[in-house]
Amino acid sequence: MSTPALLQAIGISKRFGGLQAVLDVDLSVMPGEVVGLIGPNGAGKTTLFNMLAGSMPPSAGRLWFGGEDCTGASAHHMAQRGMARTFQITSVFPALTVWDNVCAATHRHQRTDWLGAVWRSRAYRDEQTQMSERATHALQQAGLWHRRHDVGSELPYGEQRKLEIAIALATAPRLLLLDEPAAGMNPEEAGKLVLLIQQLRDQGMAVLLVEHHMRVVMGACDRVVVLSSGEKIAEGTPKEVVSNPEVVRVYLGRETVHA
Ligand SMILES: Nc1ncnc2c1ncn2[C@@H]1O[C@H](COP(=O)(O)OP(=O)(O)OP(=O)(O)O)[C@@H](O)[C@H]1O
Ligand SMILES: [Mg+2]
Repeated sequence: MSTPALLQAIGISKRFGGLQAVLDVDLSVMPGEVVGLIGPNGAGKTTLFNMLAGSMPPSAGRLWFGGEDCTGASAHHMAQRGMARTFQITSVFPALTVWDNVCAATHRHQRTDWLGAVWRSRAYRDEQTQMSERATHALQQAGLWHRRHDVGSELPYGEQRKLEIAIALATAPRLLLLDEPAAGMNPEEAGKLVLLIQQLRDQGMAVLLVEHHMRVVMGACDRVVVLSSGEKIAEGTPKEVVSNPEVVRVYLGRETVHA
């Protein structure tokens, strides 16, 4: 029997008034698989992410996550089920330190209530230790441990992207959705991002990656899905996709794509 997909979207669509932003897209991500989502500006990649993550209900289609029908479920529900995402526009708490930003994310796993906190029960203390360990691990993986005492707004843009990834990792997700994580990163940082994604896959985490930097897509992805004007126009290994004439015509031939 084949392994069931971790994420499965069937015929998913989104219409904004007269604009069909996403049309009838089928998309699956297997456990431990890294899938790239590429396409020109305005192709519908972020809109598709928003629907998958529960930030926006689809106009049509169905969505399953971990075998559960999650069509129309909230972002909170999807996060509880083990989906974490980063945003195209950075969304760290600018006034908090790097450490506090990541600790805030670990509270999704908190089980003890305020009474436990007041009496500092054993369960509460154990949980605080676990949360702190998870935050430490996430910061180390994202390469930001040395920045833990710095305030979010003081980080250069590329490191704010890393902080977003650390915040997402701190929730110990089964599926990580990354929306243009390499934006604002220099080539060395982008190379490290590829290594990080490979490491996460080796640990069994699945990743869905929207990215314009083709070097990152080629280095990190097992499979790539191409959107254009809201529709899926190609799907395959990174090598198959970059040699697809339609993909070259609508996207890769354009000068906006980073080498
Ligand atoms: N909330 C919204 N209301 C109306 N139109 C929207 C909304 N969000 C996105 N759109 C439109 O839907 C289309 C797809 O946008 P989307 O942001 O999903 O593209 P994208 O592939 O992520 O592009 P980029 O590579 O520039 O990030 C665009 O025409 C955009 O203007
Ligand atoms: Mg986008």
